[in-house]
Amino acid sequence: MTTDNQYWAMSSHPEGMPNKENFKLVSEKLDEPQFGQILIKTLYLTLDPYMRGRMRPGPSYAPGLKIDEIMTGEIVGIVEISNSKKIPIGSFVRSRSGWTKYSIKSDSEVTVLENSSHSISTSLGVLGMPGLTAYHGLLEIGKPKAGETLVVSAASGAVGALVGQIAKINGCRVVGTVGNDIKARYIKEELGFDFAINYKTENIEKKIKEFCPNGIDIYFDNVGGEITDIILNNLAYKARVIVCGQISLYNATKQPIGPRNLWSLIRTQSKIEGMLVSEYGDKKNKVAIDRISKWISDGKVKYKEDIVEGFENAPSAFERLFTGENFGKLLIKVSSV
Ligand SMILES: NC(=O)c1ccc[n+]([C@@H]2O[C@H](COP(=O)([O-])OP(=O)(O)OC[C@H]3O[C@@H](n4cnc5c(N)ncnc54)[C@H](OP(=O)(O)O)[C@@H]3O)[C@@H](O)[C@H]2O)c1
Repeated sequence: MTTDNQYWAMSSHPEGMPNKENFKLVSEKLDEPQFGQILIKTLYLTLDPYMRGRMRPGPSYAPGLKIDEIMTGEIVGIVEISNSKKIPIGSFVRSRSGWTKYSIKSDSEVTVLENSSHSISTSLGVLGMPGLTAYHGLLEIGKPKAGETLVVSAASGAVGALVGQIAKINGCRVVGTVGNDIKARYIKEELGFDFAINYKTENIEKKIKEFCPNGIDIYFDNVGGEITDIILNNLAYKARVIVCGQISLYNATKQPIGPRNLWSLIRTQSKIEGMLVSEYGDKKNKVAIDRISKWISDGKVKYKEDIVEGFENAPSAFERLFTGENFGKLLIKVSSV
């Protein structure tokens, strides 16, 4: 028996902002899974900013996509056919299947999702890669101490929202930069941040000086560009800067020149360090997921998902990451159980 499948492939490299023309929908038939393999029906597909980097020709920290190759990405799904002794039909799994409705994977390639009181979609967000990024980046590199001031950019997003909340749990004063007033209200009123700056309408420099009169001890950088330039000029003595993402530059058609204000690191004797979530390993990841999960159960951490219905909408939804239209972890609901 075969299964009718559809997947999204990259049909051309984007120049600047990605758009629908850079993707094509491909139909195929999948054969039955072989010994040790399972057929997975995708329930949720995650859309993440790093995928833009994979669409770029040229070197990155992971190989780029070739034309007509399936778009890269993680999904959570349900096992519909199993030829594996380890994973029965009906199991929920997380897998690097890409932008696809169905996939065949060997049982060693997927993570079986244990029963949890949290929705399975969270294993692509707050209890998945973005959650681990926030946790490890902040705690391993930022090393927050009570009373310190932290600034996080893209503060209402999948990574930024958790960074700010973990910093609050650790007793920090937390400032977030966001792209609109609804997000600003959300991070203050729902997530408990101390201050929010709408970088599109407010004078960032003035607000940073007002909210961080003694300088910034930790900057968790998700965006790069002008926001980061301003923050680097306002570091406190022995500050830590975590370079997690540079989303303001992902669609740049020319490589930016800079940074030009690194003198501030000398003045304040600060450290700046890039981070990659894939470097922390299973043992640390398990501790992190258990802790975040408990914080959610205890009401100390909240999360927001932005769920777009329909596999056909994946390319247009992807653009929302770069316009700021997404609000929370961006997911595509592909099908129901
Ligand atoms: N190093 C790692 O291992 C790792 C792992 C995961 C994620 N990341 C990085 O972490 C960052 C956040 O990822 P996420 O998944 O949490 O995404 P997200 O914050 O949920 O969504 C992206 C947000 O970025 C903001 N943004 C978009 N264009 C911008 C621009 N030109 N200037 C300033 N802000 C802009 C928008 O928020 P506003 O409306 O507030 O502008 C948008 O909603 C990304 O840079 C991503 O690449 C790194």
